[in-house]
Amino acid sequence: MAKRSDWIAKDGNTSLKLISESPSHTQRIGVRIGELARAGDIVLLVGGLGTGKTCLAQGIAWGLGVEEYAVSPSFVLIREYQGRLPLYHIDLYRIEGIEEVEGLGLEDYLHGKGVSVVEWAERGMSLVPREHILINMRYISYNKRSLSLMPRGERYMEMLRAIGGDWDCSSQ
Ligand SMILES: Nc1ncnc2c1ncn2[C@@H]1O[C@H](COP(=O)(O)OP(=O)(O)O)[C@@H](O)[C@H]1O
Ligand SMILES: [Mg+2]
Repeated sequence: MAKRSDWIAKDGNTSLKLISESPSHTQRIGVRIGELARAGDIVLLVGGLGTGKTCLAQGIAWGLGVEEYAVSPSFVLIREYQGRLPLYHIDLYRIEGIEEVEGLGLEDYLHGKGVSVVEWAERGMSLVPREHILINMRYISYNKRSLSLMPRGERYMEMLRAIGGDWDCSSQ
C-alpha cells in the first residue's frame, strides 16, 4: 500500500517509515490503522502544524466505520465518534501545560473501550500508558510527508507488521 517503506531497527526498537505523497495517501494509511484497531488502542500523533495529523485521524475514523466524521474546530479538545468501536479524537494543540491536560480527564479516554487518537501527544506524554503506537509526522515537501510508526508493546508491533504487509522485519 505504501509507496516506499523502510523497517528501521534501532536501540532494540523497530519502527516503520512510510512516505505519503498526497493527503489521500495519508488518509489511506489511516484507514488501514482504523481497520486494524482494537478496543483500547492508543495512537499518538506527533508533528508540527500541517504535517497531516488530522488528515491521518480522518482516515482512522473512516477505517473504524465512522460516518459523521467532521474536521472539528481546533478549540474542541476531545470529540467522540461512533464506529465499529468508539473513537476518541483528542487534540492537545490548545493546551498550555500538563496541569491543563490533567484537568481534561484524558485518562478515562486512554483507558476506555474505544480507540484514542491524540494529536500533539507530546504535550500529554506523562499521562499516556506505556503501550501505544506513536506516529511521528514530518513535512518533506508540499504534498509529501514522512510517517515514522513506532510501536511500544507487542500488540502494536503486531499492528505494524500488518501495515508493513510484505516488508519483512527480519530482512534488515
Ligand atoms: N501527503 C500529505 N499528507 C497529509 N496532508 C497533506 C499531504 N500533502 C499535503 N497535505 C496538506 O497538508 C495539510 C495537513 O493538514 P492537517 O491534517 O490539518 O495537519 P495537522 O493536523 O498536522 O496540523 C492539509 O492542508 C493537506 O491537504
Ligand atoms: Mg490537526
